[in-house]
Order: sequence, then structure tokens, then C-alpha cells
Amino acid sequence: MKQRLAEMLRAVSMPGDVLPERARVPSAPAGGVATVASAATPRGVSLQGRARRGDRWSMRPFIVAAVLLSASPWSSAAQAPTPAGLWQQIQALQASHALMRGSRAGQPGSREVDVYTTDLANAAANDAIAAAGGILNVKRYPDGALVVKENENADRKLTGITAMLKLSGYDKADRDWVMAAYKPDGQVVSYGKVQSCIACHLMVTQQDLVFAPPPEQLLPVSVWKAFFPKQAMSAQYVKLLEQHPEAVVK
Ligand code: HEC
Repeated sequence: MKQRLAEMLRAVSMPGDVLPERARVPSAPAGGVATVASAATPRGVSLQGRARRGDRWSMRPFIVAAVLLSASPWSSAAQAPTPAGLWQQIQALQASHALMRGSRAGQPGSREVDVYTTDLANAAANDAIAAAGGILNVKRYPDGALVVKENENADRKLTGITAMLKLSGYDKADRDWVMAAYKPDGQVVSYGKVQSCIACHLMVTQQDLVFAPPPEQLLPVSVWKAFFPKQAMSAQYVKLLEQHPEAVVK
């Protein structure tokens, strides 16, 4: 895990507002961000439509190609939502103010782009946290668990939204999470097995990649800087690091 993180730190720099430039679609890092294009194309739907209109047999190579293409990143995750579909699930959580258990609205974030953060979670995720007795104790989230982070700057302006959706079989090597980032208006910034997100979240593999919010768990400034070299730290977070050295994730 440490090695993965080190590799990522070498390979990735994240100058974007909230998110890794390299993780952005379509310039995905090696190792598999599912592009929005492939994610957004419902499997075979458009081709089936054409096949009905045209000659069935002449469409055959296209259908085979479509199945092969769509099968690669999505092989065992038949019910993977499109980025737009996931955005709708996120909006439902926002509408119902479904806070993640163990977090509170407007808690301290790490950088100036996320001076305040609010974590949301659906019932599947919150039930798992309740059953385990806290985020630190969750060994594995159930299929369908969704956690969301809203990021706000010092002016309480929404700067971006990140989400993790648990999908059995989606990404076995890295705990089966769909990683997604959106602009406040729902525009997709990155979506899929986003290696830069995963590399950092692997610091809490024992918690199935979900961090407890500050000040319960904190990351050193050096880690934030390595992933987001152009982003200034939030002064409040730096203070928390001084006050809670024991909370720093190693
Ligand atoms: C440098 C490390 C780092 C990177 C890179 C990173 N995160 Fe996080 N993320 C964290 C930490 C630490 C928290 C918990 C603290 C907080 O809420 O600010 C967190 C919180 C979250 C949460 C709320 C659930 C939780 O784990 O507490 C989601 C959802 C999330 N991140 C998704 C993403 C996505 C998607 C990406 C990539 C687009 C990403 N993260 C990139 C460190 C990182």
C-alpha cells in the first residue's frame, strides 16, 4: 500500500481546483479510469436500436465490438450507474440532508478549496457505520453504500463534490468503489477507478477506504501537498494537525 502511494505521488500531481488534473476524463491515468464516454453509453442500447432498423447480420461485427468494449471495465458490475445516474443519487442525498454518521455539517476540511466539508451517506453506508460502532470499525461496506463529500471554500461557496459508491465486483483489487468527482453543477470531473483518489484513500484500507472526518483522522500537510501541489492548506486544518498529532494517519 505504501508503495502504491509512493508511486502515485511520483506520477500524479493535482493542480485542479478540487481534483486531479490527470484523473480528468478523457486523459485518464494508466490503470483504468473508465472514461465518461464508455460509462455513459448504456450497454449496447444504441446499437440494438440500429440493428432493429438495419440489416441484423451486417450489424453483427458492431454488436460484437460493442459487447467487447463495454465488457472490459464493467465486466462484473452490470448495475454500474452512469455518471449522470450517480449524480441523481447524490442529489437525492443532498435533498434529504442525509449526513454520514459520525460527521457533522460544515466540519473542517483540509485546503482552501474545502475549508468546510459536509459528508453525506445513504442508509446502506450509515447502517454499516452504526452496526460497526463507528467509521473506524467498518471492515467492509455493503453493496450499494454511497458516501459523498461536499466541499466549500471560506465563503461557504460549493467548490465540488466527490463520491464513492460501493459496487460488488467493480474493482476487486481496490475494494470495489466507484470514485467520482463533480463540479457543483453536476458536470463530471472524473469517474471510475480513479487511481489518484484510490491511492490516497488506501491509507485507510482497514476501514474499507473511508476516512473518519477531522479531527478524528488527519493527513499530514506533506501528503496533501503531494497530491494537490497548487492548493493552499486551510489554516484551521493546520491547527488541528498541531492539536491532534495522534490523529495523523500513518
Ligand atoms: C490526498 C488524499 C486524498 C485524495 C487524493 C482524495 N481524497 Fe477523498 N478524502 C480524503 C480524506 C482525508 C477524507 C476525510 C476528510 C475529509 O472529509 O475532508 C476524504 C473524504 C472523502 C469522502 C467522504 C468519505 C470519507 O472517506 O470520509 C469521499 C466520498 C471522498 N473523499 C472521495 C474522493 C474522491 C472521489 C477522490 C478523487 C477524485 C478523492 N476523494 C481524493 C483524502 C483524499
